Amino acid sequence: MSRTRQNLRAFLDKPGVFYTALGIVAGIVLAIALGALSSLIINGWIQRDMDLRAELIYRSIRDQAAASGINEHSALSKVMGRIAEDDHILGLGYCTKDGKLAIATSAMPINLDCKEFAQAKSGGLTVLTPKHGHIRINSFPLTVGSSSGELLVAHDLDVVERRERDAQIYVTAALAAVAVAFAILATALVLALRRSWMQSLRVAIGESLHQTPPPAQPNGQSAVDRQINALLADLRVRRKFTHGIYVKWSPESLRQLLQDELPDAQVMIVSNREPYIHNRIDGEIRLQIPASGLVSALEPVMRACRGVWMAHGGGSADRETVDRNDRLMVPPNDPTYSLRRVWLSDEEQDGYYYGAANEGLWPLCHLAFIRPNFRESDWASYKEVNQRFADIVVQEANCENPIVLVQDYHFALLPRMIRNRLPKATIVTFWHIPWPNAEIFSICPWREEILDGLLGSSILGFHTQFHCNNFFEAADRFIESRIDRENSSICLRGAETLVRPYPISIEWPPRALVGQPPASVCRANVRARFGLNEDVRIAVGVERFDYTKGILDRMRAVDDLLTMSPQWRGKFVLIQVAAPTRSKLDAYAALQQEAENLAETINAKYARGGWKPILLVVRHHEPNEVFELFRAADACVVSSLHDGMNLVAKEFVAARDDERGVLILSSFAGAAFELPEALIVNPYDAHGMARAYDRALRMDPEEQAERMRIMVDQISERNVYRWAAQMLLDAAWLRKRERIAARV
Ligand code: G6P
Repeated sequence: MSRTRQNLRAFLDKPGVFYTALGIVAGIVLAIALGALSSLIINGWIQRDMDLRAELIYRSIRDQAAASGINEHSALSKVMGRIAEDDHILGLGYCTKDGKLAIATSAMPINLDCKEFAQAKSGGLTVLTPKHGHIRINSFPLTVGSSSGELLVAHDLDVVERRERDAQIYVTAALAAVAVAFAILATALVLALRRSWMQSLRVAIGESLHQTPPPAQPNGQSAVDRQINALLADLRVRRKFTHGIYVKWSPESLRQLLQDELPDAQVMIVSNREPYIHNRIDGEIRLQIPASGLVSALEPVMRACRGVWMAHGGGSADRETVDRNDRLMVPPNDPTYSLRRVWLSDEEQDGYYYGAANEGLWPLCHLAFIRPNFRESDWASYKEVNQRFADIVVQEANCENPIVLVQDYHFALLPRMIRNRLPKATIVTFWHIPWPNAEIFSICPWREEILDGLLGSSILGFHTQFHCNNFFEAADRFIESRIDRENSSICLRGAETLVRPYPISIEWPPRALVGQPPASVCRANVRARFGLNEDVRIAVGVERFDYTKGILDRMRAVDDLLTMSPQWRGKFVLIQVAAPTRSKLDAYAALQQEAENLAETINAKYARGGWKPILLVVRHHEPNEVFELFRAADACVVSSLHDGMNLVAKEFVAARDDERGVLILSSFAGAAFELPEALIVNPYDAHGMARAYDRALRMDPEEQAERMRIMVDQISERNVYRWAAQMLLDAAWLRKRERIAARV
């Protein structure tokens, strides 16, 4: 396209120019059409005028003839001569009865055929003459003396045509002027209306972006305001409706959602823990899947989304297994997404991971009566590492608005740091652990920075509404922000963050179930491995060796059970699998020591023959081993003192396709809200827990199956793909609204 055409197009693209030009063109077309119509009307008028004048002339001559006794052609000729001096007529003639033109005034064509006009009468007839061109002749019967004949009155039609043309030009010009004036006026009106409409739309969308329905002011609102507000309300309803629709969430439907709702969006995950760890053990590189609820939830999501996952490369062989950009494709047996490893020095790990994250924020957020430690040097390291990850997110982003899924308490400052560098990014932060109430949170010396950092997110997710409420309370108390509880959002310095509950879950169907032998075989294997007799009932506990998990409490409950119901002595074991975790920290080392001592004490108290009630296995178990244990068990104990969700509870249910086994679940784990069919316990009440063990061991198979079926329905439907889909749907919805707002 040439530059001139481009300029012209740009000029015409301006709304004012476009509408004015359109108005003028429409006005001119209308004026021409009206001009043509007016010509027809004028023509009719002039002809009627000529017929009338001819009639008047005729009457005047006829009356004169009657009154003054014109009875000769010579007298008639004089009268006609006088009348013919009038400019308006061409001439007059008189035809005798025998068809002869007996009298003709000077301009009258003399070769007229009188017979032709006998039929014309007063209606007028148009003829073409060599001298005058088109003329119009009206004829009237006239008796002069004894002779009767026809009076002819001739008008020059060329004169008429000239007048008609002039009149048409004047009329068209006048109409065009009126049309142009009208177009300019109408354009101004349209532009003014458009501006006010846009203004209303902007205000309404702005309000809706903040999730606040516009205040109802029926009298103060214009019709446009009302319509826009109705549309936006409709949008809100539709959104809720979409979320309410039953969708069977799976990797395919999640992929479909990305394709439909977020086409071409780059999905990035940032977490501290990586999904695949390479360790060098006995000279060989071994792959390990870490014991982390976060990893087990996000890994299947990432397989479906195919993006890039950034995490700390903490394995001893991690550096040997990446390319020169610190990336590798995973999962190793079916590479679908990219893992970008980030290296941290020992000092950084001490400050950021062990210090600020696990000695500060972890105990702050969990009510487990472990005192948090807040060291300034740890916080400095935490900030540095968050900034490093922000730089890497920017490096890995291939567009200005990626979707960045920030995970957990290791990255409270990261959302704000990313927002500063990529203002258009959609940042979805998920806090995998509980959020404390405002009173507890107030002891944190970094509370304002943490709140500010998290509110750099577009969406901030917790497992439960309860934790969202605690977050609102903290924001309310410690920062200047606008909180909209109705729509679950917080507005800080003009930017809004949706704060929503998204209960996390597990993949369904679970991969670890594939290839598992029947439950009876698993039971036989486990019995053989632990040297258990046929009649010994099994309860299992599987977790990281963490003080929030209530491992000591469930052991104490075993003690209570064996005292309360001695019939279980020799007939019941608790197999406690505990993966060492954060062992560098005193609280964790102390817990491990205390647990080992407690197990020993209880075992010593009740041991008989080869039997002891507590089997403590301190090592990491891969998912298939864990599933084998679950399938072998009569009961699974999840006795967290405080837990965001707890996926072990859901995995136990998922492992039991035989519909057997009883879940004993702490009321302080988020999972208790979703799985009330478990036996819900208070882990601080050892006796109550002992009763729950007893009840679980006595529960008949029908009741077990009934409870299991309800829990399976719940978990299979509300699986981890649904968890991710809900956040991505909200992200897609936000992006749509931002696009509309930007356009407006
Ligand atoms: C919890 C946290 C995760 C963490 C996991 C394992 O589930 O929410 O972020 O990955 O514990 O802890 P670790 O310190 O070993 O990563």
